[in-house]
Amino acid sequence: MQVAERKLPHLLTALPGPKAKQIVKRDQKVVSPSYTRDYPLVAKSGRGAMVEDVDGNTFLDFAAGIAVVATGHCHPEVVAAIQKQAAELIHMSCTDFYYPGTVELAEKLASVAPGKGAKRVYFGNSGTEAIEAAMKLARYHTKRDIFIAFHGCFHGRTLGALSLTASKAVQRKHFGPLLGGVFHAPYPNTYRGAFGTRPEHAAADSLAYIENELFKRVADPEEVAAIFVEPIQGEGGYVAAPAEFLQGLERLCRKHGILLVADEVQSGMGRTGKWWAVNHAGIEPDILCTAKGIASGMPLCAMIAKADVMDWKPGAHASTFGGNPVSIAAALATIGVLERNAIANAARIGDFIFRQTAGWRERHKIVGDVRGKGLMIGIEFVRDQMTKERAPELRDRVLKSAFRKGLLVLGAGENSLRLAPPLVIDEEQADFAVRTLDACISEAERSL
Ligand SMILES: Cc1ncc(COP(=O)(O)O)c(C=O)c1O
Repeated sequence: MQVAERKLPHLLTALPGPKAKQIVKRDQKVVSPSYTRDYPLVAKSGRGAMVEDVDGNTFLDFAAGIAVVATGHCHPEVVAAIQKQAAELIHMSCTDFYYPGTVELAEKLASVAPGKGAKRVYFGNSGTEAIEAAMKLARYHTKRDIFIAFHGCFHGRTLGALSLTASKAVQRKHFGPLLGGVFHAPYPNTYRGAFGTRPEHAAADSLAYIENELFKRVADPEEVAAIFVEPIQGEGGYVAAPAEFLQGLERLCRKHGILLVADEVQSGMGRTGKWWAVNHAGIEPDILCTAKGIASGMPLCAMIAKADVMDWKPGAHASTFGGNPVSIAAALATIGVLERNAIANAARIGDFIFRQTAGWRERHKIVGDVRGKGLMIGIEFVRDQMTKERAPELRDRVLKSAFRKGLLVLGAGENSLRLAPPLVIDEEQADFAVRTLDACISEAERSL
């Protein structure tokens, strides 16, 4: 049976299989050692939520290439759009010339971006490029230079975006000095609290820190260009900011003429069951950055800004490859699938998974929290539910044993696991994933 015909995992060899072992061995000699591979999956082909490795083993993919293949692997409409476009025109550079597809995609993104006002769209190739573009635009537009971001947030790895990133020290170590004028505030984590206590006050504590500490002591709000926030932290552990926090942040920004930038690189494009995670809070950021899910795996990002904010002049910013026709065609096909049923499906299957996992904290003493929205679901592992002592080793154990059972999941943050499947999965696949993880968690518990 081909990968295209399977809906659930099918393992033929011990993992990794013999061919996978060979590739891993060669990879270890020539490929950058900076990549973090949690387990040895050597992917060969994929269809929908299924991935086949080089040894013919089939996996159910709840990682989706880090929340990227929104429509599943090689969705036929996306493949057809890529093939058609590749045969017509691969590159001219939208920096210097015009493409019909760029306009169509910009019009579409502008129409679904939060808020009613006019928008303009800048295209690049990756999440970090969207953030760099937003940082530059924010400085350009406001003529201010300070940025505020949040602990635990991940905005990318190029030097500007890395200056905002405060997720893991290893991501910043030895790369300094980073950009000056970047200050971090605690993220409103409703499981742990902004400062590791008072979870129920997380939103208020975090907002108060910005107003009473940052603004009064180190960063006069008149010099702050933008506040960058992930409405749901991705790499930081799939932690959702409460709606009242995002609404408070919007008020704070308006009060001081600061731009609010929503980093929806991971949470956007329908993953949370709405177009954007900020839609759940009803706020309207001045700039919204998105990437990952936008083109089902083709490199593309968009920085969408209010039209009066995107006031930079020709030559101020551009990218040779950004918005290339093949990626744009893939994005237009992706959006067709998202609008037809995948966004609604993300909401529906997300609810199903939350119902299935509702009793996990009671049944599993190592599960501290299950949270998220739509198909952006985080599971946090602890040694003790009372003290909330983090248990990264138990998370790793669950992750690896899921792989051995044919389920692909990724870690997030220090001790959480993320479920980020393609938005087109069905109930049977969601049920399989939940039952598999349930078994893996029980196994990890028995090891204690
Ligand atoms: C929220 C967020 N912003 C930015 C980035 C950077 O995106 P990329 O890896 O495409 O540069 C990521 C990547 O994980 C992300 O999750």
